[in-house]
Amino acid sequence: MSTKKNADTYILPDHKAEAARSKEQIEAEYGLFQLNNAMETLGKDRKFYIRTYGCQANVRDGETIAGMMEQMGFTETQDTEEADVLIFNTCAVRKAAEDHVFGEIGMLKGLKDKKPDTIFCICGCMAQEESVINTILKKYPQVDLVFGTHNLYRLPDLLSQVMKTRKRKIEVFSEQGRVIEDLPVKRSQKFKGFVDIMYGCNKFCTYCIVPYTRGKERSRRMGDIVREIKQLKENGGREVVLLGQNVNAYGKDLGMEDGFTDLLIAAARTGIERIRFYSSSPRDYSETTIQAMIDYSSIMPALHLPVQSGSDEVLRRMARGYTVEEYKKLFDRLKQMIPSITFTTDLIVGFPGETDAQFRETLDLVDYCKFDSAFSFKYSPREGTPAAAMPDQIPDEVKDARLQELNDHLNHWAKENNKAYLHKIVRVLCEGPSRKNAAVYSGYSEENKLVNFTGPEGLTGQIVDVEITEVRSFSLNGRAL
Ligand code: 5AD
Ligand code: SF4
Repeated sequence: MSTKKNADTYILPDHKAEAARSKEQIEAEYGLFQLNNAMETLGKDRKFYIRTYGCQANVRDGETIAGMMEQMGFTETQDTEEADVLIFNTCAVRKAAEDHVFGEIGMLKGLKDKKPDTIFCICGCMAQEESVINTILKKYPQVDLVFGTHNLYRLPDLLSQVMKTRKRKIEVFSEQGRVIEDLPVKRSQKFKGFVDIMYGCNKFCTYCIVPYTRGKERSRRMGDIVREIKQLKENGGREVVLLGQNVNAYGKDLGMEDGFTDLLIAAARTGIERIRFYSSSPRDYSETTIQAMIDYSSIMPALHLPVQSGSDEVLRRMARGYTVEEYKKLFDRLKQMIPSITFTTDLIVGFPGETDAQFRETLDLVDYCKFDSAFSFKYSPREGTPAAAMPDQIPDEVKDARLQELNDHLNHWAKENNKAYLHKIVRVLCEGPSRKNAAVYSGYSEENKLVNFTGPEGLTGQIVDVEITEVRSFSLNGRAL
C-alpha cells in the first residue's frame, strides 16, 4: 500500500499543547507515578517472578508491574524457586482461567515452606472480584498481597508495607480513580510495543465481566499517548499496538467527537512504521477511521473485529448493539476499501438459549467472512453478569460439540486463506530467531501473518521482504529476499 495524497491535508485538533503540559499540570489533572527513596532499594538482591494471563491489556499491565519492580531494584527471574516475590497477574474473563490461577498458587504453596519469606501477590481482573477475594481469604493463606487493576500504581507502597510488617494486605479500589501517567515500563519486546490508549469498557455485553473488573471508559490524553509512541520509536520500536477494550470509543469521555481517528492520524504522524490497534467494536466504526486506514500506509491492513455470534437473536441477548447484516456491511465495506485487509474475530458458542439453528447461523457467518483466525470460546457464566442468570444455560457437552464444529470451520478457512500467499512477497518485521528453531527467523507480516523465514545474519529488528515458499494453517514459511 502506498500513502495516499490526501493524508497530509487532514487537520488534527491541536494535541501539541497537551504534549507540552508541565508535570504539575498533569499531576493536578491526572496522577503521576513516583517512588520514594525507601522503595527504590526495596528490591536490592531480590528477585521477582511474574506470570500474566489473559488479554493484551493484562500483558501491558504486566510490563508496567515489571517496570515498577525493576525501578525498586528487583531483578526478574523465570524460576519460581529463586523468586522472593511471585506475582500472578490474572484474567477473569472465563472461569477456566480463574481455576488455572488457583491451581498454580496451590501447586506453588510448597515454596513458602522452603522459604517462608517468599511473597505471593495476586493482581489483575480476578482481584477485582469479591468472590475471589473471599476465596483467597478462606482458602489461600499463602497469598500475602492482593491489589486490583485500578490501583496498579500502588504496588511499590503496598509491597513495602507487606515486607515490613509481614502482614497480609488487600487493597482493591472498587471505583476506578484517575489515569496515572509516567508509570515505568519494562517492554517485553524491543521492536514492537503496546501502548494503552484507554482503560475500561462501557458496553456491558451481557456475558462479560470486563466492565465490572476494569471500570468505565477512561481515555488517556492524546498528547501523553503520542509522547509514549515517540519514546517507543526513539528506543528502537518500529511497531505500536494501540490498546483498549474498544478502541473506537477513544476520546468520547474527553469530549472528542472522532477521537480514535484523530489519534490514529497523530500516531501515524510520529513516523512510527507500523500501527495496529486492538480491539475494535463493530458498532462504533466511523467512516473517517476507515479513511485514515486507507490514507496512512503505516496503519496495518489487519483488523480484529469481534463478532461473537452469527445470530441476530443471540446478538440481541448479548446486547452487542449490531445485527449480522450490519456486521457484514461493515466487513464488506472494509474489504472493498482495503483489498489486502485480513480479519480476525472472537466467537462464543453456547450462549444461554442458543439453539442449534442459531449456532448454525454462526457457522454461516464464519463461512461468509472466511476469517483468517479467531479466538473461539465456550460461553462461561460469570457471576454478577446478566447472562449468568439467564434461563436455558447450555450443557457443557453441547458447548464442546459446537466448539469443535466451529473450530473445524475456522481451521479450514485459516488454511485456505494462507494458500493465497504461496510464492507471494510479504513485508515482515523480523522479531528474531524463531522460538522453535534458532536457525529460522520469525515475525509478522503487514497482514499480521506469522512468518518463519531463512535469511542472512543481522535481520533482527529489520522490516524484510520475504518470499513465501510454503503455507501452513497458522503460519507461512519463506526466505528473505
Ligand atoms: N464466556 C466466554 N467468552 C467470553 N468472552 C468474554 N466474556 C466471556 C464469557 N463469559 C470472550 C469474548 C471477548 C473475548 C475477549 O473473550 O469473545 O471478545
Ligand atoms: Fe466485554 Fe463487550 Fe466490553 Fe468487549 S465490548 S470488554 S466483550 S463488555
